[in-house]
Amino acid sequence: MNKIKDIPVLITLFGATGDLAKRKLYPALFRLFKKGFLQNRFAVIGTARREWTHDFFRNVVLESISKISGETQEKEAFVQHFFYQAHNVNNVQEYNLLKNLATSLDEQFHLENNRIFYLAMAPEFFGTISKHLKGQQLLSDNGFNRLIIEKPFGTNLETAIELNDQLAKTFHEDQIYRIDHYLGKEMVQNINALRYSNVLFEAMWNNKYIDNVQITLAESVGVEERAGYYDTSGALRDMVQNHIFQILSLLVMEPPVRMNGTEVRREKVKALRSLRIEDEQSIQKHFVRAQYISNGTEVGYLDEQGVAENSRTETFVAGKIMIDNFRWSGVPFYIRTGKRLQSKDTVVHIQFKPLTMNLFKSNTNQEIAPNVLTFHIQPENGVSLNLNIKEPGLSKDIVRSPLVNIINEADTKDIPEAYERLILECLNGHTTNFAHREEVELSWQFIDTIRNAWDNDTTSTIPTYVVGTMGPSESHDLLAEDGFVWHSCDTTHCL
Ligand code: BG6
Repeated sequence: MNKIKDIPVLITLFGATGDLAKRKLYPALFRLFKKGFLQNRFAVIGTARREWTHDFFRNVVLESISKISGETQEKEAFVQHFFYQAHNVNNVQEYNLLKNLATSLDEQFHLENNRIFYLAMAPEFFGTISKHLKGQQLLSDNGFNRLIIEKPFGTNLETAIELNDQLAKTFHEDQIYRIDHYLGKEMVQNINALRYSNVLFEAMWNNKYIDNVQITLAESVGVEERAGYYDTSGALRDMVQNHIFQILSLLVMEPPVRMNGTEVRREKVKALRSLRIEDEQSIQKHFVRAQYISNGTEVGYLDEQGVAENSRTETFVAGKIMIDNFRWSGVPFYIRTGKRLQSKDTVVHIQFKPLTMNLFKSNTNQEIAPNVLTFHIQPENGVSLNLNIKEPGLSKDIVRSPLVNIINEADTKDIPEAYERLILECLNGHTTNFAHREEVELSWQFIDTIRNAWDNDTTSTIPTYVVGTMGPSESHDLLAEDGFVWHSCDTTHCL
């Protein structure tokens, strides 16, 4: 339990008029306010190009928290901490206005010179802003200075290094909080908890007992209003480089000596270093890309507004990743993600090896099913474990019996939304659940090899899948070649 203690801070939010701020950040800040992590000693400066007054800004914030329960008085008190300053990020002089406002809010709210700069805007401005924050002396000398940024952290290794180098001119690595909102999800945080608090699993967390691992991030939505961005990104950059690789590194890493940012990052980096980088031929074999096509009622990707004619952008990726280290040698990690799939389902399946000998037979006359541990990340939150037990009654056959621990709906209400949790972690200076520079660069290094192999192949046709299915047949073939199938889940158990 986080001890409830308010943390004095000034948050300067670049991109205050944007969608992310309204949908996620203001509600997250309000929840922290309601819980007492922000009390009287905090202030938010919202900036963007538009000319808004403080009052107009406060109304926007009020509107964005309108669906969260709370007395009008409480909400009014909350928004009195919000101030607006129109700002052009390229205009050096205008940083002085921000600085003056920051100094006066510091005094008014007793903020102890603690500053968080939250860049909720297009990454091409990150470098300029951080340069001017330093140049115009917006960083405080005697409080903390922290920078929160949103993905994408570059579009390949080269641009990621460039961006990281720019940020490093103003902020030390331990002051930079790169948000990957998957690291704020309850069940992603539970990967470490489950691994390191159950002897049962940590003892078996290796190639002696694990047959394969499957990470699925399935989405039922399409590209929505983001075709402009998505068509230049694709599923590989949008979901694999960040979210899937963060989950993968948590599953693969060695136990850290302590559960803190430095040690966890150290192990994640080692894990990412051990990913096998394949040549183009193996990539074509081990990575599948595909695009969704119409199911008759819903449009296919190429007909989405904003998607380039003849676009070769993938809306689905499946792949097989091998880890070249002692613990994981020989264990395939299968990953898949896609838009417009059957349902929203984020799950990790750990399939254990079959027994070396069967003394029983299953009631379906098939082989006894392997034990499978499943992390249900969303929409459900929980874990389940498929065991085999004797069929109740006179039969001696074996039936599958899932142990299911899904957090019930009432308790789910207590689970903080990812942004609330991550902002609180930043307020507390906890870096564990943010992406480190080296993690980002190593994952780009891997992703670039796949991207390049695909981009070099301009002739082959990109496989397709019908909206509402679980991807192209090539994705199923990928596992079938190794004698496996993708697990899928319904609400009570997984196959
Ligand atoms: C974002 C991607 O990072 O994650 C989106 O840019 C995707 O394309 C989203 O829809 C999925 O997040 P969640 O939390 O809904 O699984």
